[in-house]
Amino acid sequence: MATYADQQAEITEHQSLPTLHWIGDVDGSLAIIDQTRLPLELVEIELTDVDALWEAISTLRVRGAPAIGLAAGYGVVLGVRGAAEGDEADLMARLRKVVEYLAASRPTAVNLSWALARQVRAAKKLAGRPPREIVAGLLAEAHAMYEEDRVMCRAIGRHGAELLADGTGVLTHCNAGALVTADYGTALGVIFAARAAGKRLHVYVDETRPLLQGARLTAWELVQAGIPATLICDSMAASVMREGRIQAVIVGADRIAANGDTANKIGTYQVALCAAAHDIPFYVAAPSSTFDLSIASGAEIPIEQRQAREITHGFGRQTAPTGIDVYNPAFDVTPARVIRAIICEHGVIDPVNAEQIAKVVGTLRVP
Ligand code: MRU
Repeated sequence: MATYADQQAEITEHQSLPTLHWIGDVDGSLAIIDQTRLPLELVEIELTDVDALWEAISTLRVRGAPAIGLAAGYGVVLGVRGAAEGDEADLMARLRKVVEYLAASRPTAVNLSWALARQVRAAKKLAGRPPREIVAGLLAEAHAMYEEDRVMCRAIGRHGAELLADGTGVLTHCNAGALVTADYGTALGVIFAARAAGKRLHVYVDETRPLLQGARLTAWELVQAGIPATLICDSMAASVMREGRIQAVIVGADRIAANGDTANKIGTYQVALCAAAHDIPFYVAAPSSTFDLSIASGAEIPIEQRQAREITHGFGRQTAPTGIDVYNPAFDVTPARVIRAIICEHGVIDPVNAEQIAKVVGTLRVP
C-alpha cells in the first residue's frame, strides 16, 4: 500500500491557484480565491482576522464542505493568536468563543464543525504548554487537515474512476472540484482521475440555481482542465437523461448521516429522483470528514436558509416582483435508497446503508 509520503509525491497542482493557502507563520494570513468573482476574475484575497473569515464563509467567497472546514481550521488560528502572550485560561476561553462563532457561519456542511472539533482536541492535547506553543500547534493542525484533504481527494478520484466506463456521459450538480478542497476535488476529482486514466467522458453541468455554482465554477474548472462539457439549466436534467446522454450522475456532499442520507446543494434530490426513474446510477463522492455518524438519518441535518435576494436578484438585476414571498433552502437531502454508491477515500460504499457505512467509515475516523 502507498505510504503517506508516496501519496504526497504523487500530488501535483491541479489549478493555477490553490483554493486556499496559509501564508507565513502564526502571524500570517489565509489567502483564498474569491469564488464570488469567478468565472470572470481569478482573484485571491487575504484574510487576516476571524471576522473577515466568517464573512468569506457566509458569503460563499470560500465554499463547499471540505474547503469551509479547512478555512475554519485556519480561522481558529486567526481568532486566538491575539491571546498567544496571555495565560492559558484566556486562550482556552477565546478558543471556545471563536469555535462557537465560526460554527454559526454556515450550518449544513459538517466538515466545518468537524474541523473545529479537531482544533479543540488539538488545543486540549497541548494543555499545560505556553499559549504561544498552543497557537503554533493549532496552525500545525490546520496544515495537517489541509495536507490530508489533498491525499483524500486523490484517493476518492482513484476509487471513483473505476465506476465510470469509457464513453460515459456524466451529469453533475453544483461544484465539487478543486475549488472546494485543498486540491483536485471530490466529484470532479473522480472525473479528473477517470480522464487521467484515458477514459473519454462528456460532462453535463447543471447550472445550479440560485447561485450558479455549476455555471460559474464547475464549468470554469472543466474548461480549465480541457474536459468536454455542456452546461444545462437545472430543469433540463430529466430530459437529457431520457435522450440517453447520461450514464452516471456524480455529486459531492455536505453531510452524510449514519444511514447514508445525504445533504447536498438544493436540487440534488430531484436529480437523484430523475436518475432513479431512468435507472442511471447516482453516486456521491465525499471524504470521511463529511460523514456525521452522530445522526441516524437525513431528517436531523440542519438545512441552511438563505436570503430571498439570491432568488429575486440572482442575475445582477431584479427578476421577481417586490413583495413576493420567497423560500430559499440552500441544501436538500437525498435519501440513501436512491444513491447507488458513496465513494470516500477508503473505497466505495455499496450498498449504501448503515452497516456498510459503519464498516467503511465508522471505525476509521481519525484522529
Ligand atoms: O453552498 P455551497 O456552494 O457551499 O454548496 C456546496 C455544495 O453543495 C457541494 O456540492 C458540497 O459542498 C460538496 S463539495 C465537495
